[in-house]
Amino acid sequence: MINDKKVLYSGMQATGNLTLGNYLGALKNWVTLNEEYECFWGVMDLHSLTVRQVPADFRKRARNLLVLYIAAGLNPEKNCIYFQSHVSAHAELSWLLSCYTYMGELNRMTQFKDKAAKHADNINAGLFTYPVLMAADILLYQADFVPVGKDQKQHLEITRDIAERFNSIYGEVFTVPEPYFGKTGANIMSLQDPTRKMSKSDENVNGSIFLMDDMDTIVRKCKRAVTDSGNEIRYGEDKPGISNLLEIYGVCTGKSIEEAEKEFSGVGYGDFKVAVAEAVISMLKPLQEEYARLLKEKDYIDGIIKANDEKAAYFANKTLRKVKKKLGLTEKPR
Ligand code: TRP
Repeated sequence: MINDKKVLYSGMQATGNLTLGNYLGALKNWVTLNEEYECFWGVMDLHSLTVRQVPADFRKRARNLLVLYIAAGLNPEKNCIYFQSHVSAHAELSWLLSCYTYMGELNRMTQFKDKAAKHADNINAGLFTYPVLMAADILLYQADFVPVGKDQKQHLEITRDIAERFNSIYGEVFTVPEPYFGKTGANIMSLQDPTRKMSKSDENVNGSIFLMDDMDTIVRKCKRAVTDSGNEIRYGEDKPGISNLLEIYGVCTGKSIEEAEKEFSGVGYGDFKVAVAEAVISMLKPLQEEYARLLKEKDYIDGIIKANDEKAAYFANKTLRKVKKKLGLTEKPR
């Protein structure tokens, strides 16, 4: 508990450009959580290093992600928005926890297997211990809840296992976190293959709408979206393409799927796609404008970074000190 509130922790890697899927599925739903929870949102730049980065691009992308958090509506005075790499306790706790994590457990992680297959030329140890760093992120803040997508469920499970194991040896050191199932975000699929999740690493760029796509690009991508046979605008398992577009239209306009179906009854696929593009544009335009404005406010952003790094470090170091003491590491003489 912090300030009588339960703690909620999450973050995104600073890898690739965020898509409409990341926004509607995660970020957009985060902005009101601080009313009920003490929220920490990390820019997970240490995790990004498991894949080779170009330093100058990476530096910019990580900072831009932090700016985007704010542009999307996370109030940086009420949410702790910070860089993982600025709080050294993450790396330290990660080492300590790695001594309480079994090779066999890490070997079972499906994301490791997937990434190892995808980056066969760079299967580094960081990729293998990725979940331990993630456990450290969460446990440092004594988080009660972690909103994560399906693909991160297994990592949250191992975090719980590590926390429980540690607690059973040393007493109640860590809060054992639970997945957060509040208002769940939308599940947005690829425009080119609606059976797969819209992803920032899709090789087919037409499959994903990026948050910073310009208006023409959004229209073009929506027009090219694959649809289903038939000509009816209806939500259903047999119509994954149209269903996905209805879902996008619904969340962008705040209308229910049923309302959208009614609105488009008798309308052709072509006109429907244009309406979807317009809905996406009216939602993204203010976000893009706010983002562009904030990017120019260098001093303001620097101030936010400083204040929030400090706040994060305060809570993280508190946990780290406790862990070191429990482990029997020698205390520094005062
Ligand atoms: N692995 C997460 C992802 O790729 C990012 C992440 C790192 C994270 N540490 C975390 C998410 C801690 C939640 C909590 O989506």
